[in-house]
Amino acid sequence: MNVKRFGVSLEEDLQQELDRLVIKYQFPNRSQAIRYLIKKYSVEDEWTENAEVAGAVILVYDHHKRELQSKSTNIQHDFHHLILSVQHVHLDHHNCLETIAVKGKANELRDLANQLIAIKGVVHGELVMTSKS
Ligand code: NI
Repeated sequence: MNVKRFGVSLEEDLQQELDRLVIKYQFPNRSQAIRYLIKKYSVEDEWTENAEVAGAVILVYDHHKRELQSKSTNIQHDFHHLILSVQHVHLDHHNCLETIAVKGKANELRDLANQLIAIKGVVHGELVMTSKS
């Protein structure tokens, strides 16, 4: 990809803040930190504007909880057009970790994630929001 250069004027304290972020998040340089920040806001905008986006729903649950898995399967079938893949890992005797890769309209993905996370017996759930590109 073609890289363009431009000058950035910042107050000293903001430049120090940028350098602190570069060190804390181990960016190789300021340009990479700025790229990351632009993309972060761009992804948030896409999700706010109900654009076509991608992401992942992470669920941790106890598979012994009654009807949890059939409820989860029913919800996933209702939203099958959004689901790209499902990975199920048995963490220990009780707990499972499920990673559901999704792609579609932001509002529909949020709806799917909210329904899954709200199932009784889900210990923790998160929707990771990213972009298609
Ligand atoms: Ni399992």
